[in-house]
Amino acid sequence: MKAPFQFGSLAEKENFIDRIEDRALLKQLLMSGIHVMLISPRRWGKSSLVKAVGEELKAEDKNVRVCYIDAFSISTEVEFYRVFASRVMSCAASRFKKGVEEMKKFLTGAVPQLVIRDKVTEFVTFDLRFQPQEKDKLEILELPEKIAAAKGLRIIVCIDEFQQLANIPQYPDMEGKMRSVWQLQHNVSYCLYGSKRHMMTEIFNDSSKPFYRFGQVIWLKKIEERYWVEFIINAFKRTGKSISSEFAKRICGVTQCHSWYVQQLSFFIWNSTDTEVTEEIFDRSLQRLIDTNAPMFQNDVEQLTASQKAMLRAVNDGRYQFAADETKRLYNMGNANTIARNKRLLQDKDYIEQRGQRFHFVDPIFQLWFNQEYNN
Ligand SMILES: Nc1ncnc2c1ncn2[C@@H]1O[C@H](COP(=O)(O)OP(=O)(O)OP(=O)(O)O)[C@@H](O)[C@H]1O
Ligand SMILES: [Mg+2]
Repeated sequence: MKAPFQFGSLAEKENFIDRIEDRALLKQLLMSGIHVMLISPRRWGKSSLVKAVGEELKAEDKNVRVCYIDAFSISTEVEFYRVFASRVMSCAASRFKKGVEEMKKFLTGAVPQLVIRDKVTEFVTFDLRFQPQEKDKLEILELPEKIAAAKGLRIIVCIDEFQQLANIPQYPDMEGKMRSVWQLQHNVSYCLYGSKRHMMTEIFNDSSKPFYRFGQVIWLKKIEERYWVEFIINAFKRTGKSISSEFAKRICGVTQCHSWYVQQLSFFIWNSTDTEVTEEIFDRSLQRLIDTNAPMFQNDVEQLTASQKAMLRAVNDGRYQFAADETKRLYNMGNANTIARNKRLLQDKDYIEQRGQRFHFVDPIFQLWFNQEYNN
């Protein structure tokens, strides 16, 4: 039997729930030519949302083309321009032969060298093997607008994990070029999204940076508990098993509605259940969730210094006045400079976040694991 819960791939079709308002807003902005910067912590559902929106837009309007670029694996400037040009061409080209001829017109500096033809759909994929020169760079960034205008299309360029580009040494130059070219485009919308909140904020919310006020920044929220509860109960029912709404709510509570963990814990519980979820199954599955993710947490914590771990312990105990004498003494957090630095670093790396005066762990399961590791 196919499991009714999934994680690790994008949520699609009957697995995709809620986000009704997010979807409507995103569609409206992108179709109005307003660029979107979408930000949330890891695994809340950015990629799934953008994909769902892209598919809906394509289905609703035959002149819309959506091109997806994953910046996660792009590590050099040349690679960025190459991937950008290839993806834009691939999404906008007509079917085979005609597509190749057509695309040659748009880029003078480079001829698409390798063309892959999908036998089933007849769509083409371009791969550009060339070293873009200075003049090619602007031309490549202009590409989507040129193609869209010539073919009467609206092109939506989605760049996932956009903040990764900031690690490329030439990023400041790329950033200036992107902004100056893209802001003149009328037929192209950009959806730039990523999970490193701190880096994304630096790129888009700093008034001295080119991308400041480039478009609308959206902070993605979590999917609400009521949607999850309904989804979980139905998924069990559909597969001949049952879960009470109390247990479904407990799944949401313990994972704090974190999309990935809701799916993962639901899967473990579902997998251990023959007919009906019990207390014992719930507890065992929760421990399994913690254990499954433990190697990753372990690895993260190994990168931290003693004073940083001390700060996490303090946060875990609900303390937030790190500079108070008692806190400093109890937790060995170092001097004021160290404390200030660690506070910033732990937030930049999304271990903790500030809400009002207090600090909280960003990842609920990491906190459960941390508790078991450090409070025993
Ligand atoms: N709308 C949704 N409905 C149901 N499950 C979802 C939804 N969105 C996300 N999920 C669950 O969360 C997981 C992570 O989603 P996704 O990869 O879209 O998040 P992300 O924010 O892009 O993550 P990352 O930061 O790793 O790129 C999915 O595999 C799926 O299990
Ligand atoms: Mg993603």
